[in-house]
Amino acid sequence: MLLDTFGRQAVDLRVSLTDRCNLRCTYCMPEEGLQWLAKPDLLTDEEIVRLVTVAVRDLGVREVRFTGGEPLLRPGLVAVVAACSELEPRPELSLTTNGIGLARTATALREAGLDRVNVSLDTLDPEVFHTLTRRHRHQDVLDGLAAAEAAGLAPVKLNAVLMRGVNDHEAADLLAWCLERGYELRFIEQMPLDAQHGWDRSSMVTATEILDLLRARFTLTPEPSARGAAPAERWLVDGGPGRVGVIASVTRPFCRACDRTRLTADGQVRNCLFATGETDLRTALRSGADDAELAALWRAAMWGKKAGAGIDDPEFLQPERPMSAIGG
Ligand code: 5AD
Ligand code: SF4
Repeated sequence: MLLDTFGRQAVDLRVSLTDRCNLRCTYCMPEEGLQWLAKPDLLTDEEIVRLVTVAVRDLGVREVRFTGGEPLLRPGLVAVVAACSELEPRPELSLTTNGIGLARTATALREAGLDRVNVSLDTLDPEVFHTLTRRHRHQDVLDGLAAAEAAGLAPVKLNAVLMRGVNDHEAADLLAWCLERGYELRFIEQMPLDAQHGWDRSSMVTATEILDLLRARFTLTPEPSARGAAPAERWLVDGGPGRVGVIASVTRPFCRACDRTRLTADGQVRNCLFATGETDLRTALRSGADDAELAALWRAAMWGKKAGAGIDDPEFLQPERPMSAIGG
């Protein structure tokens, strides 16, 4: 099992399949993009499946989420999902995507065994979408959402990041739109994970503010004991059954209940989004380590997990890798 010294067990594995992306969200990347990982450094599809197999079969991982960058840009995605869905015990399989290209792939992903998707959508307005992502792809995301729903990748979940003065006026509209369609919306506080280090505590829209924006139109009641290891605090909207979540990573961190472990596209285990160190499974794997050795390295990586991310500590250091190279 993947335990740490604070008694937490990691059962939820986030696998980044690529650090590339077809959007340039301002809270994530600069306009010109980033220096992408070199192809030889990326795990192959077979290497990814091998490591996920070790995690699921030998280390107690029960849930596998594929992320990026944008995971739909990975040519082997459907095959990787299919291979992971054959594992025993079968893990829950989900995908965090910006939705571009989902219209083409949702059915194949469903057939390969994918259970759910989280689609990132911060705005209902194509112009605001362009301001936030620097690309004119709003309609592609809407088409992707519709395709996910039609393919039975349910419940469709949406992630939204609010940026002050850009899309924060849309909080209640976004929720109304999701409720109408039966989508589950979660707002995520903007975290200091952008490549250009432009995050600023004072301009971040806090969970408290988000809730105030929503309460201007809706009645929110806390969903009893729904949080568990899930980072989202959830509220019933107008008595339910509609719900909304808020992930207050900065102002109300959930590190004590964290059950995550992460694998980057170049084969490094990270025990936290904000970890400053990594454990290199790729080199071990390519120099012939067997499954037991890989499992031992992974266990050791998690054993060293810190109590918390410490974003609010004066000594907080933003990790060297940006979010797009870690996986959301
Ligand atoms: N802060 C909060 N959320 C972020 N995401 C990307 N960068 C950040 C950030 N700096 C979100 C994306 C996506 C998920 C993977 O994480 O919008 O929904
Ligand atoms: Fe791409 Fe996601 Fe970063 Fe936006 S937040 S640029 S969709 S990786």
